[in-house]
Amino acid sequence: MADSEFWRSLFRTKPVEVYQEEAQRTGLRRALGRWSLVSLGIGAIIGGGIFTLTGVAAKLYAGPALALSFLIAGFACLLAALAYAEFASIVPVEGSAYAYSYATVGELVAWLIGWNLILEYMMGATTVAVAWSGYFEKLLHLFGIEVPYWLMNDPFTAAKKARELGLEPPTFAANIPGFLISWIVVSILIRGIKETASTNNLIVFIKVGAVLFVILAGLFFLNPANWKPFIPAPEVDAAGNIHYGWAGIFTAATIVFFAYIGFDAVSTQAGEAINPRKDVPFAIIASLLITTVLYIGVSLVLTGMVPYKSLDERAPVASAFAGAGVGWATYIITFAAVAGLISVMMVMLLGQTRIFLAMAKDGLLPAGIFGYIHPRFKTPFRSTLLVGAIMSLTATFVPIVNVSELTSLGTLLAFTLVSLSVFLLRIRQPDLERPYKVPLWQVVSLGGVAVNIFLMSQARKENLRAFAIWAVVGLLVYFLYSRRRSRLQRSISD
Ligand code: ALA
Repeated sequence: MADSEFWRSLFRTKPVEVYQEEAQRTGLRRALGRWSLVSLGIGAIIGGGIFTLTGVAAKLYAGPALALSFLIAGFACLLAALAYAEFASIVPVEGSAYAYSYATVGELVAWLIGWNLILEYMMGATTVAVAWSGYFEKLLHLFGIEVPYWLMNDPFTAAKKARELGLEPPTFAANIPGFLISWIVVSILIRGIKETASTNNLIVFIKVGAVLFVILAGLFFLNPANWKPFIPAPEVDAAGNIHYGWAGIFTAATIVFFAYIGFDAVSTQAGEAINPRKDVPFAIIASLLITTVLYIGVSLVLTGMVPYKSLDERAPVASAFAGAGVGWATYIITFAAVAGLISVMMVMLLGQTRIFLAMAKDGLLPAGIFGYIHPRFKTPFRSTLLVGAIMSLTATFVPIVNVSELTSLGTLLAFTLVSLSVFLLRIRQPDLERPYKVPLWQVVSLGGVAVNIFLMSQARKENLRAFAIWAVVGLLVYFLYSRRRSRLQRSISD
């Protein structure tokens, strides 16, 4: 192949019309109405983020202005959400950001986005499984049940704990709750989209109830003096990091960004939506707006109940209520977190298997595993089992608590690409039918690119390095396997 031909082939795009035609015969069961989709969005969004990250973000960086950090992060997400909404209305297929970039920037970038979404969905779900195990242990503890630490932690974390306690490292250790919850989630997903949606609805009911409880009960314990000054004066620590002031507010915004991740997963449900072109865009935007309002409410209440410096970094919500003399609220919050994180895992795995399905349809992943749809359940059965197996084993044996920043990086790159793709497609195919159109498209799409790149640049260096290594592995897989099997490349060379 001539050099120029090789380069051109990397940027070959899959025509939008082909996607639109494929959307007619998804193979999945179309069972999701408008509000089920909104509920799936909320199910994926509200999770550990609001219950934990608010602590570090308020105490160390934003102070009472945490609400502004949530507003800023929510605004950045809204730019991406509008872009997702426009694309979902044009190409209502399960591939989400992967498919959108395949239709606009070409196969190589699409592959990298698909590869990168593994960080968001599969890695994200695995981190949540480990976090879930932590909340579950806390819940058991509240009821006086203590489980040996070597049954609650991976071998590395267990050995560390043993050293701290002055004990010999255990001969066997495993995060058993992480293992069990992964398989519970997988078994719900396999049974079908209807079962998944109704389990999700129940969980969303519980967790939105808990968040509303925090806001409404918190109102009774507000002391407006705690909000003054609303933006504390900046302080510089020994390492040169700025805390508080506007710089602190922005740092806190990058931290709490994680709490918003998940609304984009709605776009991977396009193959299962009854009326995807209208309802998916609606659900993406609605679930994001609803959670933004809830998050701002929680931030205002928490920082208004107790002085921000007294918030606990790991359990801020419980500590605010304990500080206000309402210790029993811990029970509600811990229970809500235990229930709430289950739907985050569910929707993330749902998203992961649908992205893989889209990649398998294009020939970039083995169709026998990732493209196989169970004839009765109408779900990607083998793929769900495989992803579940990887997730459960990783959660059980690998210490992966600190990878939430990688999850955020993966997500931010996807957001950047989707915003860019909206811009490119508007220029290339201005007359395409767009049931939902981004308002002020130049500003919103390029603004989305800029804001998301800015947030990526705020990540720590070691995480950026890990992110780059992941991309290199992805390139190897692409050139050694996927490129040769790509249906698009083969159809052209035939
Ligand atoms: N937004 C999800 C959470 O906060 C990922 O857990």
